[in-house]
Amino acid sequence: MKEYESIVLSADERQAALEERLFRELRERIAGELPRLKRAARPAALLDVLQALATAALENDFIRPELSDEKELDVKDGRHPVVEKYYLAEPFVPNDLYLGPDETFILLTGPNMAGKSTYLRQNALIVLTAQIGSFVPAREARVGVVDRIFTRIGAADDLARGRSTFLVEMSETANILRNATERSLILLDEVGRGTSTYDGVSLAWAVSEHVAKNVGARTLFATHYHELAALADAEIGIVNYTVRATEHNGTVKFLRKVTRGVSDRSYGIQVARLAGLPPDIVAQARRILADFEGGVMPAPEHYEDQVALFAGRTPVLEEFLARVNPDEITPLEALELLFKLKGLAEGE
Ligand SMILES: Nc1ncnc2c1ncn2[C@@H]1O[C@H](COP(=O)(O)OP(=O)(O)O)[C@@H](O)[C@H]1O
Ligand SMILES: [Mg+2]
Repeated sequence: MKEYESIVLSADERQAALEERLFRELRERIAGELPRLKRAARPAALLDVLQALATAALENDFIRPELSDEKELDVKDGRHPVVEKYYLAEPFVPNDLYLGPDETFILLTGPNMAGKSTYLRQNALIVLTAQIGSFVPAREARVGVVDRIFTRIGAADDLARGRSTFLVEMSETANILRNATERSLILLDEVGRGTSTYDGVSLAWAVSEHVAKNVGARTLFATHYHELAALADAEIGIVNYTVRATEHNGTVKFLRKVTRGVSDRSYGIQVARLAGLPPDIVAQARRILADFEGGVMPAPEHYEDQVALFAGRTPVLEEFLARVNPDEITPLEALELLFKLKGLAEGE
């Protein structure tokens, strides 16, 4: 019994020791063959990448881009490979892009939700995939090789590291200004949105002017501040484009088509309505907007007769109204708020 006991009790240990020995032996055998294994793995990996790119190109109707050393970027019917495949109920609207020696900087205006960010990203993806040797999602594409792609794109808040959205935005922009060259591609998405409108527009303006005049990199700048369109200047290569939207009976319709020109309105209130903001709040916002646009500083007493409408406001709604800034909010946060509001409406 005693003998048997010690065999059983030490079994685990011996098992572990055996396992370790076998593992070590295997490792040594493999290490001995390392050069051969690596030699075999490299072409297998390359083949894997190339066949994945080929399959993607075949299945998604990509074309072979033409690469050049010119400072150009000429895309016909470009698409965003991920958005077109996974996110859409409606068909994806393809868009052209032209950047060349005399038009280096596109200022893309358009309301929130129009498709500006998608357009920026799809073109950066086309350049990137072209330069890694892949086919690209477009009908035609001439890509002048870029040395780097710089992006300043929102959403990646860095609150965890104690840096405000605006600080992150500005330090990333500063980094771009320090490092971009004439051969770079720069994407600036809503630079300046993280602060007040006037600050934001002024910063965006100065940054754009500097990039166009002194850097000369091919640049796409998306903004819903249509005031910035006044920056367009043929002399330094800044041109206006807009993602078109129309309004019908107070409802905004997004056409998703990028054309030359300027967006005249921001349709913020219409988008808020689409998102399900209660009608009385939307109506109140329209009145305040009319005052702003008429050069009147809105003041509570202008709307006294409307106050009754708001008598039913709950503390949650009150807090919501105080906190929400549609210009700073991400689509995900907007959705969360929508659910909260719905919960509120049902709770009452
Ligand atoms: N070319 C397009 N065709 C169809 N739908 C699009 C297109 N571009 C964008 N969208 C849709 O519109 C939504 C908002 O686009 P986004 O680029 O984020 O707008 P913006 O940056 O102007 O606020 C996207 O999530 C996508 O579903
Ligand atoms: Mg955007």
